[in-house]
Amino acid sequence: MANLTIRRLDDAIRDELRLRAARNGRSVEDEVRVILREAAQNRAPASSLPAPAERPAVDVSNRLAAVTLIIGGGIAAYKSLDLIRRLKERRIDVRCVLTKAAQQFVTPLAASALSHERVYTDLFDPESEFDAGHIRLARDCDLIVVAPATADLMAKMANGHADDLASAILLAANKPILLAPAMNPLMWNNAATRRNVMQLRRDGIHTIGPNSGEMAEAGEAGIGRMSEPTEIAAAAEHLLRPPKPQPLAGKRVLITAGPTHEPIDPVRYIANRSSGKQGFAIAAAAQAAGAEVVLVTGPVDLRDPAGVTVIHVESARDMLHKVEAALPADIAIFAAAVADWRVANEGEQKLKKTSAGMPPLQLVENPDILATVSKLKDKRPPLVIGFAAETEHLIDNAKAKIKRKGCDWIVANDVSPATGVMGGDRNTVHLLTRDGAEIGVDSWPVMTKEQVATQLVSRIAAEVGASR
Ligand code: CTP
Repeated sequence: MANLTIRRLDDAIRDELRLRAARNGRSVEDEVRVILREAAQNRAPASSLPAPAERPAVDVSNRLAAVTLIIGGGIAAYKSLDLIRRLKERRIDVRCVLTKAAQQFVTPLAASALSHERVYTDLFDPESEFDAGHIRLARDCDLIVVAPATADLMAKMANGHADDLASAILLAANKPILLAPAMNPLMWNNAATRRNVMQLRRDGIHTIGPNSGEMAEAGEAGIGRMSEPTEIAAAAEHLLRPPKPQPLAGKRVLITAGPTHEPIDPVRYIANRSSGKQGFAIAAAAQAAGAEVVLVTGPVDLRDPAGVTVIHVESARDMLHKVEAALPADIAIFAAAVADWRVANEGEQKLKKTSAGMPPLQLVENPDILATVSKLKDKRPPLVIGFAAETEHLIDNAKAKIKRKGCDWIVANDVSPATGVMGGDRNTVHLLTRDGAEIGVDSWPVMTKEQVATQLVSRIAAEVGASR
């Protein structure tokens, strides 16, 4: 078997591997083994990183944040050395502070080698204290992590002591603090510790763990083991960049997009200039807002949005069938530019030129998908939104359309060639909302199609939230 030297991989791949390994709680070497095993078995890596849009938002090009890591004096301190690596894998800079007791378990040299930073140990260190270094350590970071947080360190924190560098930093901190307690189960369950932990939580201090399991002391087990470094790193990342709110969580959103192709014969079809960009942007925005999204799209030249169920269709009739099959939904948005007509006498063979002139093409009307769904009795989604692509009398035509189709809202846009909307990246829209017989009009400024999508999704979230 060949040996693989991970250090020789190019930086981007190495970084991706590290990030992936961190997410899966494995060493980089183990992660590589998993990838190779799965590749050899000819299947996509099951535990691979989610697609880019699904990933927690870690900026892989820059450092995410800086953490001051206070290592307390307990046997779990050896795991904190691994924690330094796990944090750095997540683009988090780490500056370590070791208490006096911590230095009985790990050395400042080891922490410094792993963090690539100077390690701090002494409150009265003239080199770092000439400019009140403990204040800098408390403030020049985005988060303070204490791991292991010993019973003694927590007692000091709960009572506001500041007689060494670690406790002085914690008292001077104006940044969030995450504690990873680690101690013997009897100490964890002691009434004094319980009181201190409660007080710290009331003070807004975050905690992770401890876990239950075997203790360092022979034959002892119970709650008191420090959380694993990957768990602590994930909790730190969560505090540094909390996930975005998901106002559409639990909602199913059905969206149509793109043009439809209506066949004339096996090689020719009727189409329109729709790019599908607006519908795809809405699908991505709804997915980012936590919705389960089904996107039924005609032929487009766009990548499927991550985390969205995409159903590709050709004709208006295919689109209608797939839409009906995807119901029920909480919200349906019809952004597709569905062809109004199809060829009635679709040729089975390629139509040939003849001396008789042009072949007669008979057109018949396609089903109106928006109107069909709006008028459903049982499965009508509670919020049905159409689009009105107009080239003149925009608002009047859109008002007529909202009534004719029976939908709740219409996003009206001017698609005259001069606007560049068809196929372009920008859109100027008016949102028409129906409230009984009244139709309100909200005109939005010119925006990118992504901005229109985001704004529409937040309007939907407000509407759905209000009716919850
Ligand atoms: N629509 C649809 N099925 C059709 C035609 C249109 O679902 N067969 C939907 C579109 O997705 C859009 C809305 O109806 O949400 C309005 O589409 P638009 O092309 O503006 O209007 P039409 O109904 O085609 O009417 P007209 O072409 O006369 O303006």
